[in-house]
Amino acid sequence: MENQLTIANQPQFHRLKIAKKRQLTKNAFALELAIPEDLKSNYKFQAGQYVTLKYHFNEKEIQNDYSFTSAPFENKIELVIKINGDESSTSFLFKNYQIGDEISVSEPLGRFFIPSRPNEKRTILAFASGIGITPIFSHIKNILHEEQFTRIFLFYGNKSYEDIVLKQELEDLQKENVGRFEVFYFLSQEKVKDQLFQGRLDEKKISLIINQILHLDEDDEESTIWDSTDKVLICGPGEMIKSVANACYNHGIPKKNIHFELFEAFNDDIYPTEKEFPLIENVNVKIKFNHIEKDGIVLKNNERKILQQLLDLGYKLPYSCKSGICGSCLCYLKNGEVDMTEDEYLTENEKSQGKILPCVSIAMSKDVSLDFDLY
Ligand code: FES
Repeated sequence: MENQLTIANQPQFHRLKIAKKRQLTKNAFALELAIPEDLKSNYKFQAGQYVTLKYHFNEKEIQNDYSFTSAPFENKIELVIKINGDESSTSFLFKNYQIGDEISVSEPLGRFFIPSRPNEKRTILAFASGIGITPIFSHIKNILHEEQFTRIFLFYGNKSYEDIVLKQELEDLQKENVGRFEVFYFLSQEKVKDQLFQGRLDEKKISLIINQILHLDEDDEESTIWDSTDKVLICGPGEMIKSVANACYNHGIPKKNIHFELFEAFNDDIYPTEKEFPLIENVNVKIKFNHIEKDGIVLKNNERKILQQLLDLGYKLPYSCKSGICGSCLCYLKNGEVDMTEDEYLTENEKSQGKILPCVSIAMSKDVSLDFDLY
């Protein structure tokens, strides 16, 4: 369902030339896009961000988002794209766009990034599933380059060995960074000798990883790798993210240290609501976004978070993590009351200004008015 608020926040696009193209696996290929000198500053990005590619396929305009697999210090745009079947728009892109052709590319978008800590000794765990490796790969290269004392452990799930995207590149990185980067593969549809590496990355598997891989620490006999974990990065399908994020949280990692990127629409909360709220039915919501006001929106009740209910009704509002971590959905509460189930992202100052995160907000009054125009 489209809605008048969908005209909001169109990213800026430019025509860029394809500089390199190579097939990685049966179902994935890499594209490198050349950045002309006068657009260099437009394409400065952070590890974890993405661009939107725009092109025509079957007389329709296609817009798909692809994460950078290059790291910022490499000064190039490299994307890895999964081919979703022979008749798909991605297969068309792979077959029809050649080196030298131009394509419309948005400026960098997204908030799946973490601040760099060049002087700290950090332990970072990354979990990726399938093509979810793409932003994680950019993060890994960036962290190894920017933080000389930090170490990273990657747990990477795929159906079979031949589906593993960027395998050679990951193994090269591992060889170049012995003691700082280690990768463990998990296969769900191909037999492996060690049962630990058989199956999907889910809550049960995370417990086994903690107990069998992260239970000792060669750098610190008093601790375990798990206990010294500073950050967790996750990317993959919604169910995988939900399961891995909850497992990490339930094993003691604070939510503010668990970062993830949803690669698909996911109509569920990542973390369950831990409190109970009095039921309010037929909540009247008014929203303002990009100077357009919409009144008379009715949410069935307050059992689910406000943002998810508005997205379900077709309002294309800004969001990324849907868990109160990234700040993408930040808005003013102009009228009414809400209860935020997570509020670690907001400063006291922001809260006193009336700012809220609707992705983690439960309506606590019959009328709620939100203003997404922060500036
Ligand atoms: S979507 Fe990330 S804080 Fe709301």
